[in-house]
This record gives sequence, C-alpha cells and structure tokens, in this order.
Amino acid sequence: MKAGLSSELLLKAAQLHNTPLYVYDQQCIQSQYQQLQTAFAAFQPSLFYACKALSNVNILRIMHQLGAGIDCVSLNEVRLSMTAGVPADKIIFTPNSVGMDEYVEAVALGVNINIDNLSILRDFGKQFGKTYPVLVRINPHILAGGNIKISTGHEDSKFGISVTQVDAIKAVVAETGLVVKGLHIHTGSEIKDIDVYIKGLELVLATAQQFDGLEIIDLGGGFKVPYVPGEKGTDLLALGERMASVFNQHKQATGANYTIWFEPGKFLVSDCGYLLVKANVIKEAPSRTFVGVDSGFNHLIRPMFYEAYHHIENISNPQGINKTYNVVGNICETDTFAWDRSLPEVRPGDVLVFRNAGAYGFEMSSRFNSRVRPAEVLIDNKEIKLIRRRETFEDLLQGQII
Ligand code: LLP
Repeated sequence: MKAGLSSELLLKAAQLHNTPLYVYDQQCIQSQYQQLQTAFAAFQPSLFYACKALSNVNILRIMHQLGAGIDCVSLNEVRLSMTAGVPADKIIFTPNSVGMDEYVEAVALGVNINIDNLSILRDFGKQFGKTYPVLVRINPHILAGGNIKISTGHEDSKFGISVTQVDAIKAVVAETGLVVKGLHIHTGSEIKDIDVYIKGLELVLATAQQFDGLEIIDLGGGFKVPYVPGEKGTDLLALGERMASVFNQHKQATGANYTIWFEPGKFLVSDCGYLLVKANVIKEAPSRTFVGVDSGFNHLIRPMFYEAYHHIENISNPQGINKTYNVVGNICETDTFAWDRSLPEVRPGDVLVFRNAGAYGFEMSSRFNSRVRPAEVLIDNKEIKLIRRRETFEDLLQGQII
C-alpha cells in the first residue's frame, strides 16, 4: 500500500465536501499507468483501462490523456468513454449475456468487439461476415484470482468459449467468413501468481496458431495490488520479463508477431481512491465496541460481498491509543466494514479513511435504504476538484412517476 495522500489534504476535502466522500489521486493513477508501461516495455502492449472499476468521465479522460484505451462491458460504458473523448478504435466492448441488438449497436459505434459465446458468434458472422473483424474470448479452464466470485477463467465460469471448443469457432469462421482478428482471455482479478499468467499466455498463443491472420492477443486484467499492510501485489517486473521471453520464443518458433493488449482495472485505480466517512456513534456493547459511521455497504460493498479487507485510518486522531472495534455502517442489516480492527481511539465526529477504495467502490454503490450516493472529488497536485456532486432526495425521485 502506498503512503498516499496526506491526512491534511483528506481532512480538507472532507471539510469542503462533507462525508461520505470518495477521493481520487490523479498523480497516483499516472504513476500506476507508468509502472505497467515500464514493466511491459519489452513488448509495448496497448493498455485498455477496464472502466467497470471506476467510470467517472473525469477518470476516463485522465486515462485517455495517458494514452490508454478503454475496456467496456456495456454500451453505456462505451458512451461514457466516448463522452471522455476516447475514439472508437481505442474502445473494446466485452459484454457477457447480452443480445444481438447490443452487438449491432456496437458495430454502428465502430468499437472493437469481443464475443464470448458461440451462438452470438454465429449470428454475428451471418449478419456481418467478413465486414467486421472481431476478437473472441476464450475460456482457458484456468482457476485464478483472489476468490471464486472474481475468478472468470475456470471451467465452470460463464465467461468465454471453452478452449476445447475451438473447432466450433473455426466452423463459424468457415461457414460465415467472419474474421477473427484477436483472441482474449481474462482469468480473474487479484492474480498474484505469475505462473498463472504464463500458463494462460502459452495456452492462448497455442490457440492463436489455429487462426489465420490473427493480429491481437488480449490478456485481460487482474494484476493484484496490496490491500493489507505488508502484503505484496503481482511482481510486474518479473511478469514482464517472463512474458517477453515467452513472446520471443513463440516468435522465433512460428514467425508470429502479435500486438498485445491488457485490460487493467484495479491496478490503475484501487490504491488511488479513498472513502472518507465520519464516526457517528461509539457503542460499547458487552462483547465488543462498535463504531457506527455515516456510510455502509451501499457505498462500499467489498467487505460484505467478498469479505475484502480495506485498511482503515483514523485521520482525526492518529496519535490516539489503539482500541479494538467493529466498524459498521448504517444499513438496516448486518453491515460490517471491519471486524476486530485496531484503530487509534475513535471519537464521535472523527473522520475515518478506507484505503483501496478507487476500484469497485463508488462503481458498485447503490441507493439501498434510500440513502444517496457520495460525492466524488479528484485531487490534482493538491487542488481539490469536485467531479460528482452528492446526490439529493430529488435524485431519488427522478424517473419515478408520481
Ligand atoms: N477485463 C475483463 C474482461 C474483466 O472481466 C475484468 C474484471 C477486468 C478486465 C479488470 O480486472 P481487474 O484488473 O480490475 O482485476 N468487483 C470485483 C472485481 C470484479 C472484476 C470483474 N472483471 C472486486 O471488487 O474485487
């Protein structure tokens, strides 16, 4: 985990815009992007930011300015990317379980299309034939990632076309004239084990040999960042070296020279985001002490949904004596951010900070209990910019016919 933004700056943001508040650090995002570029310099991949992690248009604009493309799972993510000025050829549309209508619209928008099932591949081939080359998502039957909910490349996963069904893909190509311009895999999120990446890479390269004229190998995202102090993320430099050597060997053996794409989400924004909340209630119950804060799993669902650890700091009382707390939210069912967490004494009104809140934080938030979503601010060289206003009661009514 990085040292991160200063408590002074975070407290200032909380004073200006109140809590709960999401705060993002622009320079951190730039540095994460550069780390990937450095690690993979030997084969110069194109990076497509997986914007499902955090899709505020201001963040998308930063990614675009850095030179990244955007990986999108819905047409609305495509539209948000275009709003940020990203051209169609730098957008990938990688949906799952959507109908042909969405693919037809994606064709009209001109984005790269990644198809992950045989029935759509067939329909797409029939409708567009060789006029619109596509990528195909392969399910490599590899179990990878931090937990089963975020593993996407195993045999029982709904994603991709099984690597055992490549013949069926080739039959669609033969029958419809469809051009497969690239193959894609994404095996999971929070992959620390480099061997898993190498296994996936070798498998996709072997599969690629079965297609003529293939140009792109898209290796998805999934790089792990540390969430717990002292924890290690993916060793990117080591990964870059191993991948470069696999590419070189493959090139020497086959003459194939592919363009490599990656789709990092978490790695680019997780560590660069903070959720600031305020302690409302300190409850000394017989068995434990609860800190009740002005937020809940409606704003940051990861602890309740994945049992994810998010580091918490009490920036209002950093020198306080450490005590053990359950940090809980204000939602009407079990809503625990942290169990038995040691924190400098928390007093009503103290501002607590959840770290690693940039990825899948605001993005997975909801209005459960008719509570509104937080505001979002971007810090650019100490300048605090509001990039989404806090929702209001009127936002809850919007769209309702009353
Ligand atoms: N590409 C594809 C096709 C994906 O499905 C994903 C994530 C990514 C790229 C980006 O993966 P990342 O680099 O962020 O690990 N909500 C969960 C993570 C779900 C990831 C889903 N797909 C969480 O909060 O841990």
